[in-house]
Amino acid sequence: MRHLMSPLDFSVEELEQLFQLAMKIESHPEQYAHRCDGKILATCFYEPSTRTRLSFESAMLRLGGKVLGFSDAGSSSASKGESVSDTIRVISSYADICAMRHPKEGAPMVAAEHSLIPVINAGDGGHQHPTQTLTDLLTIRSLRGALEGFTIGLCGDLKFGRTVHSLIRALCRYQGIRFVLISPEELRIPGYLRTQLENGGFPYEEVIKLEDVIGQLDILYMTRVQRERFFNEEDYVRLKDFYVLTEEKLRMAKEDMLVLHPLPRVNEIAVEVDQDERAKYFVQARYGVYVRMALILTLLGLAE
Ligand code: NCD
Repeated sequence: MRHLMSPLDFSVEELEQLFQLAMKIESHPEQYAHRCDGKILATCFYEPSTRTRLSFESAMLRLGGKVLGFSDAGSSSASKGESVSDTIRVISSYADICAMRHPKEGAPMVAAEHSLIPVINAGDGGHQHPTQTLTDLLTIRSLRGALEGFTIGLCGDLKFGRTVHSLIRALCRYQGIRFVLISPEELRIPGYLRTQLENGGFPYEEVIKLEDVIGQLDILYMTRVQRERFFNEEDYVRLKDFYVLTEEKLRMAKEDMLVLHPLPRVNEIAVEVDQDERAKYFVQARYGVYVRMALILTLLGLAE
């Protein structure tokens, strides 16, 4: 039995198979419409979500399976003090696979250790978000044709943004990728990631101003300032509008740069940018369903 805790749990070859399957599903959805007949996905979300939970549920329903679960800790027995390990033991007899999101780093890992069914980390605190990374990689692979040889700017909350942490770790396994890390001083990437970039000799630079580097980028990955992980509201208010991507700033960017964002967006991308050809974040959200369909099939051993 296999779980997905980190984007590195799959080898590059396995990821390639997963992406190929996702693309097959996109072009021939009818061939997969009954692959999961009789299977049940549990979505255990102890933290808010729109895309991740609903794309998981949509993925399972589109495969012919069924879904059950809860979308906030308050409506689960966590509010009575039940541990994640007890909850998953019980869910193991109600469902065939479980996607779990939790505000505590490592909680889905604890669940996986006590689970009799595959567990997918759907985001754990400020740590990792592997299925968003699968979505991001599939989007880049589809829109650029390859997962190598580009300069990616990651902009915004690089300290608490779990999607950024997972994406950097995943991209380090591909050739010719240069990272431009764009954030205010207070929201730079965690030390463990910087050490990883340095030890691996991966080209990266850390800058504060988006305008200084936007012209070099092939991909701009914008992120929201993660309000729920701040210790005080004052710091959040001071930093929340540090970056706002506008049409004016996009004039300095390459004609074919991709603008990605895991969403939800707050103010960091002006709504006017949605009309720009380079804005791909809604396309990206759509890829999230195909890649989760492919993931569910793979973890249930139903891929072929
Ligand atoms: C992200 C998350 O939950 O980390 N959202 C998502 O899953 N697409 C990003 C965010 O909340 O800012």
